[in-house]
Amino acid sequence: TVHLLSLTSVCFLISADDCLTAIIGETVQIPCSLKTETSLKTEDILIEWEKDNITAKDITVHSFIKGEDKIKDRTQLFISEVSRGNFSLRLSDVSVADEGEFECIYHINGDNNSKHQAVRCLQVAGRYSVPYVTRSSSASKNSEVNFTCKAAGGYPEPKVHWSVNKELFQESSRVNTRKSKDSKGLYSVTSVLTLTVTGNVSVTCIIENERLEKNETSVEFQYLTQSAKEAGIPLVPVVVVLSAATVLITLVLIIILMKMMKKKKSMTQNASREDDDIQAPLRQGPDN
Ligand SMILES: *[C@@H]1O[C@H](CO)[C@@H](O)[C@H](O)[C@H]1NC(C)=O
Ligand SMILES: *[C@@H]1O[C@H](CO)[C@@H](O)[C@H](O)[C@H]1NC(C)=O
Ligand SMILES: *[C@@H]1O[C@H](CO)[C@@H](O)[C@H](O)[C@H]1NC(C)=O
Ligand SMILES: *[C@@H]1O[C@H](CO)[C@@H](O)[C@H](O)[C@H]1NC(C)=O
Ligand SMILES: *[C@@H]1O[C@H](CO)[C@@H](O)[C@H](O)[C@H]1NC(C)=O
Ligand SMILES: *[C@@H]1O[C@H](CO)[C@@H](O)[C@H](O)[C@H]1NC(C)=O
Repeated sequence: TVHLLSLTSVCFLISADDCLTAIIGETVQIPCSLKTETSLKTEDILIEWEKDNITAKDITVHSFIKGEDKIKDRTQLFISEVSRGNFSLRLSDVSVADEGEFECIYHINGDNNSKHQAVRCLQVAGRYSVPYVTRSSSASKNSEVNFTCKAAGGYPEPKVHWSVNKELFQESSRVNTRKSKDSKGLYSVTSVLTLTVTGNVSVTCIIENERLEKNETSVEFQYLTQSAKEAGIPLVPVVVVLSAATVLITLVLIIILMKMMKKKKSMTQNASREDDDIQAPLRQGPDN
């Protein structure tokens, strides 16, 4: 029965566009199949899935021999599908290191064409966190304000866009973007936008993942100019000024009151002394 099988081995031309895209942390199914009308005996099938490796020779990530899995880790075949010639591989918990080429090698006992192979290219992608914007410095003498945008945990490297007052900001010389990789190979990005602020501005940061064709957009950051802020949030200075004024007014009142009381006292004293004052010149008068 085996020799009636017609095995078709397909040659794949690999380009990045043909790559399967897997999401980091999720599961991906890498296809590999053989067209067959009849059911295969699993004991007659040998399947090996290999992964390329820069530092070592190809690594066998899965092997299926005589109806049993011999090597497996995060991988799994669809057992009920194998006898139908479907040798697709399920790879779970995808990581950055899984990027590359996967080769499906299979051999059916009794078939003289011996080994067949198919190569599949896998690329991975990870979503960035929603970026957030902070103001990292207040306006200096020349009205320059720095805005900082941060996002993390994505792959591959992102494109950073800023929008100012809802318009895409084009001056790349005013933007300073740094990217770093964590131990899992995921990127963190910090971008600083330096603006010369003359009025109120709203700033938004957009992190673009081209591979996922996905943008993560920060909430709009509102920056109000100094004069606007004084009119808007004067609570603390007003309280300070008010309490200072209260203390001052009370002090002045106390002083005035004390002066008035002194005056009253001295007026009564003066009333008696006035007689002397009047008398004195009168008395002095004749001395001159
Ligand atoms: C496979 O090869 C062997 C020896 O070369 C031959 O005897 C046999 O007929 C071949 N079988 C098929 C299915 O071609
Ligand atoms: C290559 O193989 C080594 C040893 O198994 C492994 O530690 C390393 O992560 C592999 N590198 C890639 C890029 O798959
Ligand atoms: C192989 O099996 C998987 C899992 O059931 C299925 O999703 C896939 O479409 C099958 N491939 C073919 C070529 O039938
Ligand atoms: C603003 O950012 C630029 C570029 O990152 C930096 O050179 C400058 O020192 C920053 N200014 C302030 C006031 O933090
Ligand atoms: C992401 O944002 C950039 C800049 O605004 C834009 O050019 C691009 O088309 C957007 N991509 C998606 C998928 O929305
Ligand atoms: C800035 O915004 C504040 C609060 O929305 C507003 O009161 C003020 O008039 C604005 N200033 C300018 C220059 O637009």
